[in-house]
Amino acid sequence: MAAPRRNIELKAFDPDPERSLAVVLGLGARDRGVIRQRDTYFRVNSGRLKLREEEPGGATLVQYDRVDADEARESRYRLIPVDDPGELCRALEASLGVLAIVEKERHLLLWQNVRIHLDRVDGLGDFLELEGVATADSDLAEELDRVARLTEALDLVPERMLRNSYSDQVVGSDALVDAARAVMERAHAPYSKFRVGAALRADDGSIHVGANVENAAYPQGQCAEASAIGALVASGCRRITEVAVISDGEDFCVPCGGCRQRLREFIVPGAEIHLCANSGARQTTTLDALLPRSFGPEFLS
Ligand code: THU
Repeated sequence: MAAPRRNIELKAFDPDPERSLAVVLGLGARDRGVIRQRDTYFRVNSGRLKLREEEPGGATLVQYDRVDADEARESRYRLIPVDDPGELCRALEASLGVLAIVEKERHLLLWQNVRIHLDRVDGLGDFLELEGVATADSDLAEELDRVARLTEALDLVPERMLRNSYSDQVVGSDALVDAARAVMERAHAPYSKFRVGAALRADDGSIHVGANVENAAYPQGQCAEASAIGALVASGCRRITEVAVISDGEDFCVPCGGCRQRLREFIVPGAEIHLCANSGARQTTTLDALLPRSFGPEFLS
């Protein structure tokens, strides 16, 4: 079996992507353009396994091992080109389960065999990644040195370093998601058997939860988001700064149309809405994306 490929890698938060771009272009990096990437991470026993789908480009199964650390370190990886990503994704999802889906726009630049990624990750923000691609027989000293030179030029101080992968950022052990999952367990959904939990963070940091409450006279049922909004308002809060919605269905749980409008009344612009799947995966969006050009309180003031 062929040995895995190796990189020296580093990931950091990027408060100023325009400046980063100017710095690397100033060093003579070659611009390879912008790629849209969708990574589906699967639950695995060791390392990480993701299906990468690229536009422009094709699909690749990526297996890699990398310790979590806030400094440049080795990554050992294998890249397997994939002809039928949809079917492979379904097969891996059925047998392993999806951990997270991470979508991003990647501006790729190359400098002395170092791949420079200026990443805008959906729901997470801007990041900068350096990958010093190693030759098969390298002792990695040269790759470490090149990454160190870029680290200095880009002012990547330790506080900016990211220890783990984007998937860990997306999954996290977020108190809000945990609260939504816990309240989902208490839903009253004997008719649909589709339990939903919603957790709302208010602008004072407090968390308010609600589950769907169904009724034998079906139209009297109430959605989880409506229950949670009731709890938030009853506690004296009026502003929602973050939302998590989860169901025990297979897919990511999205708020229904009515609940999008209910949230619209209280949510602050740009607040993150985490659409969670029972597997632990989540996708993060905003109300503006879920309900564009919406009607709200300011129309009546
Ligand atoms: N449901 C929610 O609680 N929130 C939504 O946004 C979508 C739907 C509930 C309502 C009902 O109890 C069940 O899911 C099936 O429609």
